[in-house]
Amino acid sequence: MSRVLVTGSNGLIGSEAVLYYDGLGADVHGADNNMRRAFFGPNGDTLWNLQRLEAQTRSFTHHTVDIRDRESVFDLFRAHAFDLVVHCAAQPSHDLASQIPLVDFEVNAVGTLNLLEATRLHAPDAVFILMSTNKVYGDVPNEYPLEELSTRWEYARPEDYNGISESCRIDRCLHSLFGASKVAADVLAQEYGRYFGLKTGIFRGGCLTGPSHSGVELHGFLSHLVKTAVRGEEYTIFGYKGKQVRDQIHSIDVLAAIDAFAAAPRPGEVYNLGGGRGNAASIEECLAMIEARLGRTVRRTYLDKPRRGDHICYISDLRKLHADFPAWRITRSLDRILDEIVEAELDRARLASSLGIAG
Ligand SMILES: NC(=O)c1ccc[n+]([C@@H]2O[C@H](COP(=O)([O-])OP(=O)(O)OC[C@H]3O[C@@H](n4cnc5c(N)ncnc54)[C@H](O)[C@@H]3O)[C@@H](O)[C@H]2O)c1
Repeated sequence: MSRVLVTGSNGLIGSEAVLYYDGLGADVHGADNNMRRAFFGPNGDTLWNLQRLEAQTRSFTHHTVDIRDRESVFDLFRAHAFDLVVHCAAQPSHDLASQIPLVDFEVNAVGTLNLLEATRLHAPDAVFILMSTNKVYGDVPNEYPLEELSTRWEYARPEDYNGISESCRIDRCLHSLFGASKVAADVLAQEYGRYFGLKTGIFRGGCLTGPSHSGVELHGFLSHLVKTAVRGEEYTIFGYKGKQVRDQIHSIDVLAAIDAFAAAPRPGEVYNLGGGRGNAASIEECLAMIEARLGRTVRRTYLDKPRRGDHICYISDLRKLHADFPAWRITRSLDRILDEIVEAELDRARLASSLGIAG
């Protein structure tokens, strides 16, 4: 890939994509308007990550483009012949979407359509990656029979051991407005692959994480949990006794999957992408792992009120991804992911305290 467009380039996955392709010698363009700050306030500000990218890259150009602005998106495509588009820009929060339904849909659905159409008109041979989400399955995963273990919920049937596959139903269920806008984007990207033959690949993320996440309560579970713990603040658990299970994947392994697809695209194909069975843990289990690293108890409060449509046990079934791209695998264990995030947060806290500012 010689010319790459990354949308949402200041964010967790986007910034990893910039570093990855810059490292391979590509001419990398990023589009991000720091809208995460508008969504989540100062803790969601991503400018620190842009500065990091500008310091660490060789051939990276940033564009302050709003993907809702169709003309600016088209201008970008007219000016540069992209052969890979990694679309990561989004309103990413389940809960926030209900407060801003129009903005959520305009960013997630219409923004994606703008990019797909720009690709069809100006870069029809490019590979187009959409970062989709497991929230397209709505609350269907909660219909799977579960059993309650001492620290986590677990699938009750042996055939569900590997987790949720791409055959899981995506309609006739509760999604949250975020899930609905992401379904629109997901199906549009599939359609541009199947109908127009564009090389679109759709990745339905589980919990994507890593040290470059600007984690906040409403998005970025593990990053927010570690941040709260390191700062000695109180972590709020919403329902399911803190036994809800998530599978964590490091952003580096997300990029490896994207790159495997880019090298051998299958137009319109959909893949679940998370840490899988090996990297799955409940909130309580994650808290215990963080406490072991910090050597102290993390303060928490429990609200017996699950987030609407929240998954009780979600593990990504990775078998389709493994079958189509046999060289791809998870390289970062949950232990290693936590080591990295805790270390990064401790570094940030030390820096803040040496500068005499609140972390
Ligand atoms: N992080 C996860 O756990 C997770 C899980 C499943 C799916 N996903 C999906 O992966 C993608 C990337 O997620 P992330 O965690 O890197 O998110 P992120 O919030 O860290 O990054 C998204 C970036 O997009 C930018 N952005 C938002 N609206 C924009 C707009 N209108 N124009 C231009 N830029 C805009 C934001 O400023 C931000 O930097 C998203 O589509 C998200 O829905 C993430």
